[in-house]
Amino acid sequence: MTKEQYISTLTPEILRLTTDACKSCNGSGYTIVKIKEENYDYETEKARECECVRIRKLKAMGLEERYQECCLANYNVDDSNKDVYSTIKLFIDKYPNVKNGILIMGGCGTGKTYTAATIINEAVWKTQTSHARMISVPKLLEEIKATYDSKAKRKLREMEFDLTEIEKCELLCIDDLGAEHLKEGDGASWIREKLFLIIDSFWNRKKTIIVTTNCTVKDIEDKYGDRVMDRIRGMTVQRVITGKSRRML
Ligand SMILES: Nc1ncnc2c1ncn2[C@@H]1O[C@H](COP(=O)(O)OP(=O)(O)O)[C@@H](O)[C@H]1O
Ligand SMILES: [Mg+2]
Ligand SMILES: [Zn+2]
Repeated sequence: MTKEQYISTLTPEILRLTTDACKSCNGSGYTIVKIKEENYDYETEKARECECVRIRKLKAMGLEERYQECCLANYNVDDSNKDVYSTIKLFIDKYPNVKNGILIMGGCGTGKTYTAATIINEAVWKTQTSHARMISVPKLLEEIKATYDSKAKRKLREMEFDLTEIEKCELLCIDDLGAEHLKEGDGASWIREKLFLIIDSFWNRKKTIIVTTNCTVKDIEDKYGDRVMDRIRGMTVQRVITGKSRRML
């Protein structure tokens, strides 16, 4: 992308993410890199988003700090995750021309969120866009419960808006589906309905979802119903990460 082309993609939303205090870009949001083109012996200048924008963008997309550096180059591969690794490698090579999303299953600490974050990081870096989101289902439920307790209607309205934004994006990761305790009352039916609407919107628009879970397909079906699981099944390939928690390693 040339400098002019890149600057034309900088939306006010991205520009708000930069700061004059950034020494690399002086608040412009981009830096110029020299790239040597294959088969040519000269270098061309291309504009790339500055690191300050990349980090703030990932935060706005819902990636926690711990997962902002996940990428293929840092990804440790062994027998327990080699299947999922080759699947995400192929996915990223093809992105955005991908047909299926991925349902990543595995026990606690096996690297499900790490894997999903790798996909999001690589995809947004490759396309230099911000059309991706990561939502944690247990966290979403906690937020909803908090609005019920405090009757903070405004917060709930803001969340409704946030979900509308999610329904517009290209790539969505639903992290930890099924890990939450869905007690009736406490926003259970709200979250069930919202998740259905989100997934249905991705299904209708033929956009990509990544789902991580430590439940079985049957558990998800019991918790969220066939209409949710049917769509997930139709939109994803299933991969399992085996082995013990990597947090202990
Ligand atoms: N493929 C990997 N390469 C390097 N580190 C990993 C990998 N998978 C997991 N980890 C490490 O293990 C920790 C737990 O992974 P995480 O994705 O949070 O587990 P899960 O979401 O399955 O509970 C991560 O914080 C990371 O440090
Ligand atoms: Mg996780
Ligand atoms: Zn900067």
